[in-house]
Amino acid sequence: MKITAKAPANIAFIKYWGKKDETLRLPMNSSISMNLSGVYTTTEVEFSDNLESDQVRLDGKLAEGKERERVVKFLELVRKLAKINTRAEVSSKNNFPKGTGIASSASGFAALALASTSAAGLSLSEKELSILSRKGSGSACRSIPDGFVEWKAGDTNYTSYAHSLYQSDYWDIVDVIAIVGRKSKKVSSTEGHAKAYSSPFYKTRISGMKKKVRDIKAALSDKNFTKFGEIVESEALNMHAVMMTSEPSLIYWYPETLSLIHEVKDWRRDGLEVYFTIDAGPNLHLICLGKEVYKLKNKLKKLEVDEIIVSRACDGARILYKK
Ligand code: PMV
Repeated sequence: MKITAKAPANIAFIKYWGKKDETLRLPMNSSISMNLSGVYTTTEVEFSDNLESDQVRLDGKLAEGKERERVVKFLELVRKLAKINTRAEVSSKNNFPKGTGIASSASGFAALALASTSAAGLSLSEKELSILSRKGSGSACRSIPDGFVEWKAGDTNYTSYAHSLYQSDYWDIVDVIAIVGRKSKKVSSTEGHAKAYSSPFYKTRISGMKKKVRDIKAALSDKNFTKFGEIVESEALNMHAVMMTSEPSLIYWYPETLSLIHEVKDWRRDGLEVYFTIDAGPNLHLICLGKEVYKLKNKLKKLEVDEIIVSRACDGARILYKK
């Protein structure tokens, strides 16, 4: 059977950076995110006896090298679970540029996990799917549950998974992505995670993570947007300080990234309550409440921003079609 699944990207308010187990992708700390309605991957999977090898198409192009290997490795996990040996045809499309700090691996592996397990005849629970997606890309486990999500770090394969804290309609938080760079990043997040330990600030970062998770959960529960935004922004800078001071250093920002950071601070001083966060790429995610989106978009239109993508919180991975 051919299965088509769709999964959103997610933005981490509290980030995952650094692992305690490479193969299982067990993170050093828990993280908190929101699924993004405007950026997603749609993936089709069909297993067939007629195929001699896995066929992987990403955004219409036949994948090769490392990109293909990562998908094939994931399909091996699915075959093992389903006790099958057939090869698969996979076709995956993003509605946004990949490798630019808009978690394409998150939406990609979440959609692949759901489509491939279902095409292999499995029916996994949300927790099982989250665990499986995590092995493709850590942050993918957060694109399985709905709305606002927590990935509990855990210590073992079965205790490290994501669950929903609140449904999408809980709070009208908007993520406005400002695309300032479209080139694929030179250092993938997988490589970046492995370098985190080389930063002299990493230990300090990790020692503060439990409190940060508690604090942001309190801000979410109280719907205290100022508190929430302050934590989100300082968390992003904290992670980038670790990236920048790793060996070799990882600088994902472009000059446009920094100049937009200054704009955001100015806008806030002028009364527009908006905060930024940045993943492993140059693009900014600007976080505001729904009532401020119009004003924020107008401000952005006056700057040199390539494209603006507006997202609200949304459901996690879903099956679209079965044929
Ligand atoms: O899942 P990965 O390996 O793409 O890592 C994601 C890393 C960040 O996007 C920078 C942070 C996060 O928690 O999403």
